Parts: sequence; C-alpha cells; structure tokens
Amino acid sequence: MSGFPTNRPRRLRASAALREMLATVRLDRRQLVSPLFVRDGQGLEQEISSMPGQFQLSVDRAMETVRRWSDLGLGAVLLFGIPDSKDAAGSGAWDEAGAVQELTRQIKRALPSMLVITDVCLCEYTDHGHCGLLGPGGRSTRFSGFGPASTQGPEAAGNDKPLDVDNDATLEFLARTAVSHARAGADIVAPSAMMDGQVGAIRQGLDGAGLTSTAIMAYAVKFASCMYGPFREAAESAPAFGDRRTYQMDPLAPRQAIEEARQDIEQGADILMVKPAATYLDIIAQVRARFDAPLAAYHVSGEYSMIKAAARLGWIDERRAAMEVTAAIHRAGADVIITYFAPQLAAWLKE
Ligand code: PBG
Ligand code: ZN
Repeated sequence: MSGFPTNRPRRLRASAALREMLATVRLDRRQLVSPLFVRDGQGLEQEISSMPGQFQLSVDRAMETVRRWSDLGLGAVLLFGIPDSKDAAGSGAWDEAGAVQELTRQIKRALPSMLVITDVCLCEYTDHGHCGLLGPGGRSTRFSGFGPASTQGPEAAGNDKPLDVDNDATLEFLARTAVSHARAGADIVAPSAMMDGQVGAIRQGLDGAGLTSTAIMAYAVKFASCMYGPFREAAESAPAFGDRRTYQMDPLAPRQAIEEARQDIEQGADILMVKPAATYLDIIAQVRARFDAPLAAYHVSGEYSMIKAAARLGWIDERRAAMEVTAAIHRAGADVIITYFAPQLAAWLKE
C-alpha cells in the first residue's frame, strides 16, 4: 500500500541537512567556463552596457581578471577577440599578434593550469559582421585578397544573387584561425561559425601543423537566436545586413540537432556544445541521451542580461536565479557550462 497518508514526500525536505544529503545535482567551479572579451590596446576596461558586469578588456587588464578567476577556482576561460581593424575576409582572426593569441600565450605562461578555450569564428573580424566570406548566393566567393575593407552589401554590383556566406571558401580561414590559436597555446578551440565541414577542416589543419593534441569543442548545435543580441554589442559583431539564418539552426526545426552533432563527432569533435542553453534544455537532454562525448552548454548573453535586468529592477533575486538556471542546465545533461555568471557562481560556491 502506498500513498498518502502513509507516504509523505515532505519528510525528506524537513531540514537543510536532509535536503543537502539528498541533493544529487551539484555544481562544481571546475566545470564552469567564463567567456572573456579581449581587445587590442592597453589599459582598456570598458563595461558593456547591455551586459552589466561584463567588460571589453585589453590584454594587460584581461590578465589581471584571469588571475582573479584562477584564484576563485574557475576551470577555464573562453576567449573572444575584438580587433581594431576589420576587413572583408576577417584576416585579423589568424593574426599571430592578435589579442586572443597574445592573451593565450600570457595565460599559459603565467597560469598553466587554467584551460584556455578560444572561439573560432570570423564575425568579430569581418567588416560585414558575418561569420565567413561572402559570395553571391553563398556559392562562389568574390574574395580576392587581403586588401583594405571592401564593403559588400546585399546588392553588390553585377550580380542578382544576394550575398551569403560562402561555406567552402570559409573553411580554410577557420582552420588558419584555429591553428594560430593552438600555436599560441590554446588547449581547446571552439568553432562557432556553423559552416558545414568546419570541424573536419580544423582537425585537418591542426594535425597538418603537428597540433594533434589540441581538442575541438564544436558549437555543434547552435540556433539562430535573438539571445545573442547583447553579445553582438559586446563583440562588435552584428551583421551589417541580413541575419545568420542561412547558417545557424532554425529554433523551429529541432530534429536537425542530432544530425549536426553526429556530423561533428564524425569530423573529429572532442566535445559537443549546445547553444543557447536555458531556452534549449530539451536539446541538451536529447544530445546527452544520444552521444557519449562530453557535452557543453552555453548560457548566452541574452539569457544573462535578462536575469541582470530583472535583478536591477528588484524583480528577481540574482543569486538564486543564476544558481537555479545553471543547475537546470546541468540537470538537463551538460557536463560543462559556459556562463557569464561563472566568476560570481565560483565565488558563491566557495562560501
Ligand atoms: C560568434 C559567436 C556568437 C556567440 C558566440 N560566438 C554570436 C553569434 O553567433 O551571433 C554568442 C554568445 C552569446 O550571445 O553570449 N559566432
Ligand atoms: Zn560568428
């Protein structure tokens, strides 16, 4: 016989000690990854207005921040670069003297146990803000050298096909970028451009350069989300025209997620990622159930800023909201959680 009044689920919640004994979801600082925006220059520390508590930092300032995060016990950082100048090909992305490459070298020298993950994409480096090279209809590239910025709008002269990102022409440049990050010492490269074949191209590039032990964390399942809005201010990477819906996934076509993940595993991904996280918990759970590879989830800028905004208005308790949403992402099946709350969570978890 079971049921009320014999069974009383509240018995197990009667004290904090009991609740703590029975908790099976536990967050660990070592599984949290903090994104960091590093820009060219010196002594720069600019708060991002749409992401309170997040900054664009020059390499020197970023080093101070990463030291602090290391003391808090954070496991890893995910680096995004913001260059001073941009061009049609995004050539700053693979510049050995770029801010990401320089910060990576400095972190690995001073704090060798801090894992460095680098975002591999071109959108912060292209003058048009798209994640790859442009071509009419996205087929044949019009890219013709690394000259000064050429502004190619959707009605670029002499072609009736609208410009789109040229998948295959972009692969080589993503691979170059990943190799430059790995040469600087990155432990993991994280391609986010959503080009078909990008993981394979990067694996081939890394192996060809003798960088066989650099791991790939694939943004395998990345949706075209409005939740990236604040990030695009942070990284100065909003597309100058159009949007990213020809390469990022349609939120209303979730079944493509499994196929995206499968292809990335096949091409050599070591870690899979789902992004955004809190609004895609169903996808995290499905990918977790189908693949045994380590799984990361990215709680993105808009998801962060919504909590910050509500907390500022006094409508929500920031600490409890951040803890609860991060636990939910973990519960859905993510082993690794990339979140702008990571340093704050690490400090809270240390208490
Ligand atoms: C670049 C990139 C984006 C994010 C991570 N890598 C922006 C985009 O795809 O538009 C979003 C991260 C966030 O919103 O926090 N491809
Ligand atoms: Zn991009």
